[in-house]
Amino acid sequence: SGEISLRDLAEPRFFGAAANTTFLFHDQNYTRLAETQFSIFTPENEMKWENIEPFPNVFNFTAADEIVRFSEFSHAKVRGHNFMWGNQLPPWVNDSLSATELDRVLKNHIDKIMNHYRGKLYAWDVINELISDTPNATFKDIIWTRKFGEEAMPKALVYARQADPQPRLYINDYGIEGINGKSNTLFEVVKSFKEDGILLDGIGFQCHLTLGQVPPDLQENLQRFADLDLDVAITELDINLRGPANDTALAQQAKDYEEIVNACVAVKRCVSVTVWGVSDDHSWIPHGEVLPWDGEKRPKPAFFAIAEAF
Ligand code: XIL
Repeated sequence: SGEISLRDLAEPRFFGAAANTTFLFHDQNYTRLAETQFSIFTPENEMKWENIEPFPNVFNFTAADEIVRFSEFSHAKVRGHNFMWGNQLPPWVNDSLSATELDRVLKNHIDKIMNHYRGKLYAWDVINELISDTPNATFKDIIWTRKFGEEAMPKALVYARQADPQPRLYINDYGIEGINGKSNTLFEVVKSFKEDGILLDGIGFQCHLTLGQVPPDLQENLQRFADLDLDVAITELDINLRGPANDTALAQQAKDYEEIVNACVAVKRCVSVTVWGVSDDHSWIPHGEVLPWDGEKRPKPAFFAIAEAF
């Protein structure tokens, strides 16, 4: 694998990883893989609200800047992640704020961050995980939808577009990989945005999946969103073995990765495949052995399957 570079094979698409400053520059093998294998990075936590604006109008860009600088140095793009989410919010962003106050807070957050990164980011996950998991509602019941109702998403998208017209603006979610109730809900929401002239550039499909459970209609689903004149991207891919990493499991995992990359490659508007981490020792899912490199940074069967599929 010394010679195989997934970033080269992926062209014209981007192959990416969630980058984490805990390991970047601190784990040599991680840094070496990051430099050679990836052409796009998503900060795993560094741009989330609790880290980047821990107190009202107090911004800490230090960690996120490290990833942006590293990306510039290695000629890789950056997907910003994220502006509007129900998790990893600092304590001061809570329901005691009025809708008017929260509106000002959201706009300021987006303005300051987009100004700071003007000209440097390829895309932003403006919205993360807002679609409901159950058919009785369109949106999750979180601070943004409690205060703004169905205006939550349009607000964030409009503020982002006003702050900087350049980065591609995305809605990102999980559980929308196949054609199902949740992806149908999102599809309707996105169609109505298009009709209302609310600008949106792409949909991110997280793809935190379980072994052997790649939806057979993934490609068809990506295509129907692409047909709305949107980019689509695989944004947080990992495949949880939920069991021992024996040869059978690793072979199935390789198949799963291959299927997902194949689906992306078959869809013209699919711009990138990003894995959520680099190697199994640093994944957000401990003991899931979810990534294309093992804990020793050795390529797994999944690595070779990805190379094959690109
Ligand atoms: C995860 C990170 O990987 C963890 O380090 C953190 O503790 C929690 O968040 N969906 C997302 C990502 O959009 O931001 C999440 O990242 C994983 C699920």
